[in-house]
Amino acid sequence: MGLVPAAGAKVCCQFVTVRGMTTDNNLKSHHSPVPSIASQLAQVHRQVAEAAIAAGREPGDVHLLAVSKTFDADAVIEAVQAGQTAFGENYIQEGVEKIQALRAWRSEPAQSGQAALEWHCIGPIQSNKTRLVAENFDWVQSVDRLKIAQRLSEQRPADLPPLQICLQVNIDGGANKSGVSPEEALALAQAVSQLPRLVLRGLMAIPEPAPDDASARAVHERTAALMAQINAVGGLPQPLDTLSMGMSADLAPAIAAGSTMVRVGTAIFGGRGQRD
Ligand SMILES: Cc1ncc(COP(=O)(O)O)c(C=O)c1O
Repeated sequence: MGLVPAAGAKVCCQFVTVRGMTTDNNLKSHHSPVPSIASQLAQVHRQVAEAAIAAGREPGDVHLLAVSKTFDADAVIEAVQAGQTAFGENYIQEGVEKIQALRAWRSEPAQSGQAALEWHCIGPIQSNKTRLVAENFDWVQSVDRLKIAQRLSEQRPADLPPLQICLQVNIDGGANKSGVSPEEALALAQAVSQLPRLVLRGLMAIPEPAPDDASARAVHERTAALMAQINAVGGLPQPLDTLSMGMSADLAPAIAAGSTMVRVGTAIFGGRGQRD
């Protein structure tokens, strides 16, 4: 643990004013300098590459999802200009607003060369929000029950590519956490993988913070083993290939355990204040 200092603790290179957040806890009034999103992104890429190499893996096999929840569209644009294309959002309405804002920005003639963006829903989904998700996001990593998957499948517009899905697994049995239990994950994977307009890609987990890297890695290895077990049983239209695990504080042990996608917020955009 501790590869990533608390945002703002390590001040380097280039400074910008504190970036806008979409919450009432806007920190602008504090005027504390923070490193630029570009420099933070570069630092996270270095950490991902180092962790992959240390684990005997190719750095390119680990994708970086920038978790932009609570940060505004300008922060996302800054990250896009630094080369980031995949973004994770927890709050559906907030995410959809940013998706639309970024779509408008990318359609400006000056931005014509910008790469396509990929939006991942990584927060809890209530039934009444599935249509918004199905119509706007590219991936949903927080599917933990069949009913939500069925609604996403029915509501995914025919003119969009299939929605890419990960099942969220409550790998350490945290009482207040969403996620299917490891015991029920296989049956859910089998059912979800049959639904039209969805492609089941893998598992996502958010373990409790661990006291050290070894304990963090051990928990992530359980998620990796669960995915291997589901693939070994077979019967899915295609094997699962995505292990979404590791955040700012535990990306190295997650990569050591086989993560193919780390979801990083704080280490890229800074602290999120009190909201979460
Ligand atoms: C599902 C999920 N993944 C990743 C993150 C990013 O966490 P961090 O800011 O610690 O990198 C969050 C943040 O809340 C999250 O909810």
